Amino acid sequence: MEIDLAFSPEEVERKDLQGKAVVVIDVLRATSTMIVAFENGCAAFIPVGTIEEARNLVAQKKSPDFLLGGERGAIPVEGFHCGNSPRDYVRGRVKGKTVVLTTTNGTRALVASRKGAEIFVGAFLNLAALIQRLVESGRDVLIACSGEKGFFCLDDTVCGGAMVARLEENGIAIRPRESAQAARILYDRYARDIPGLLRSCEWGQQLERMGWGEDIPICAQLDSSDLVPVFKGGRIFLDRSRSEEAKNRID
Ligand code: MLT
Repeated sequence: MEIDLAFSPEEVERKDLQGKAVVVIDVLRATSTMIVAFENGCAAFIPVGTIEEARNLVAQKKSPDFLLGGERGAIPVEGFHCGNSPRDYVRGRVKGKTVVLTTTNGTRALVASRKGAEIFVGAFLNLAALIQRLVESGRDVLIACSGEKGFFCLDDTVCGGAMVARLEENGIAIRPRESAQAARILYDRYARDIPGLLRSCEWGQQLERMGWGEDIPICAQLDSSDLVPVFKGGRIFLDRSRSEEAKNRID
């Protein structure tokens, strides 16, 4: 199994994704927030590139089952039901709802990954479950980091490195490309203190300054969720039939 890693959505766009499993990561905060939302009963996300697209789509739906979510520069978009904080996506607000989401980097990485054969949403929260899905899939993997405005970011890269480490620990014969090897080395440097990494990285510090510091320990949890959202046909949802099938095979 070849494991490649892209540091930004721009790099994902230049990759050949044919036949690959793509894992999209935005640890702080979009993919962590989505996993928390699904844990709270959210039905689906529709990632879109712009605020206008999000507003138009929800206006067309004319249904209380559709919510607007997202941020720019960590600030919730005016008039939206939720920002991009995991604490916004509480059960009472999101259960059974579809959220049309637009964020600065995370939704761009998802859109850039659309040509993957299978696309999964990943974060520290669902590492173990995600690794199981990748093993079941058996495909070559591209880890798609959301980065920061087209550039490298440490938090997503270390999370990508954790995925490489977990695959190795599971005895999977992997061929990591150089970017995946570099991510693995960074993970080894930070593995013992993921909360500390997320507090000290540039975006973590910015979130702290802007008053979103309480989101950081939520995004730093390891293996707190068994959910692996998939992105298919423009929607992100829980492919429950697949998960049940795999569980029955293991039982
Ligand atoms: C993004 O998509 O750029 C991030 O999730 C930003 C944020 O932390 O709100």
